[in-house]
Amino acid sequence: MKTQYYTAASLDGFIATIDDSLEWLFPLGELEATSYPTFIREVGALAMGSSTYEWMLRHVVGPEARRPQAWPYKQPAWVFTSRTLPAIPGADIRFVRGDVRPVHQAMVAAAGDKNVWIVGGGELAGQFYDQGLLDELFVQVGSVTLGAGKPLLPRAITSPPLRLISVRAVGPGFAELRYEVPSDRRS
Ligand SMILES: NC(=O)c1ccc[n+]([C@@H]2O[C@H](COP(=O)([O-])OP(=O)(O)OC[C@H]3O[C@@H](n4cnc5c(N)ncnc54)[C@H](OP(=O)(O)O)[C@@H]3O)[C@@H](O)[C@H]2O)c1
Repeated sequence: MKTQYYTAASLDGFIATIDDSLEWLFPLGELEATSYPTFIREVGALAMGSSTYEWMLRHVVGPEARRPQAWPYKQPAWVFTSRTLPAIPGADIRFVRGDVRPVHQAMVAAAGDKNVWIVGGGELAGQFYDQGLLDELFVQVGSVTLGAGKPLLPRAITSPPLRLISVRAVGPGFAELRYEVPSDRRS
């Protein structure tokens, strides 16, 4: 079981624009060509912050979506928010706030022998990192720069650095980079 922050980012380290747009991301390549299908098969539980959840509501599942679809995850999901957000009928979603440690414990228990996915954003992934709970960072680096936006991981991790495990080109649009968090930063 690993806890993985798996995300796409621009070359200059942003996972969304300031106004939460991902329009820059989709033209870069087909999801099916990336590691995502293999990755998601091994996910047993996932967590996201409220901006990410609200993006899903606006663009995927909610009535505002151009072509509303079902909630895409079969795995139990935890959404971090200090507010009351609309639930999605039929989706296994738990709304939580505050300390990530008890939530992580519940996620690990739910995941069984599968992995825990921190979907984002970067600050939430940072909260898991701060508690020694993040094992890997898996980034699909897109061939674009945004100049500004929502940060990939607003933490200084320098000494020891992350350990690069693998690099893979996915067409001209993505480089997939997989890193391990140094063992002395993991509990
Ligand atoms: N490129 C990609 O592959 C990718 C992946 C994931 C996300 N995204 C996008 O990137 C953007 C991420 O937005 P973001 O950086 O703002 O991050 P986010 O983690 O999605 O949302 C941050 C918000 O979550 C809530 N939150 C976080 N930690 C909390 C805690 N411990 N307790 C209670 N509430 C907590 C807070 O809002 P409230 O308390 O006000 O609710 C906080 O402002 C979104 O647009 C998303 O769609 C992109």
